[in-house]
Amino acid sequence: MKKTVSFALNGESIEIEIEPHLTLLQVLREKLELTGTKEGCGMGECGACTVLLDGKTINSCIFPAVEAEGKSITTIEGVIDVQGNLHPIQKAFVEYGAIQCGFCTPGMVLSAKALLDEKPKPTEEEIRNGIAGNLCRCTGYLQIIQAIKAASGQG
Ligand code: FES
Ligand code: FES
Repeated sequence: MKKTVSFALNGESIEIEIEPHLTLLQVLREKLELTGTKEGCGMGECGACTVLLDGKTINSCIFPAVEAEGKSITTIEGVIDVQGNLHPIQKAFVEYGAIQCGFCTPGMVLSAKALLDEKPKPTEEEIRNGIAGNLCRCTGYLQIIQAIKAASGQG
């Protein structure tokens, strides 16, 4: 039996009928066609599926969609501004070469956003901790850390 779930998605209220066993990642990608959120391991280990729930990072691949009820969810589609301009963190990722294959990027950007929203001038260690749940196979992390530093005005 389907269940109705209501939550805010990228600032807009939505209501959707879903099968209760679906993960938030499945609902975002398959029902709502928000494919910016990536599926990597599917087991809560790589961070590719990171989204923000009330401003904090979660792995949407292991998060039951029904638990989004009444919450506010931000996906990578929700970080651009109303004119469609990239978020400053996204711009810094481009500028510092922090994107190679790009698979980890949406999750990295959202983890960086959660960090900077809470701590606008993080130390390098805090940046490393902030993205500790996001695996990147390509960059060696250095450019990502530089980009987050730059986005915090410490470049
Ligand atoms: S796909 Fe969710 S943590 Fe890897
Ligand atoms: S850029 Fe390829 S996994 Fe990070």
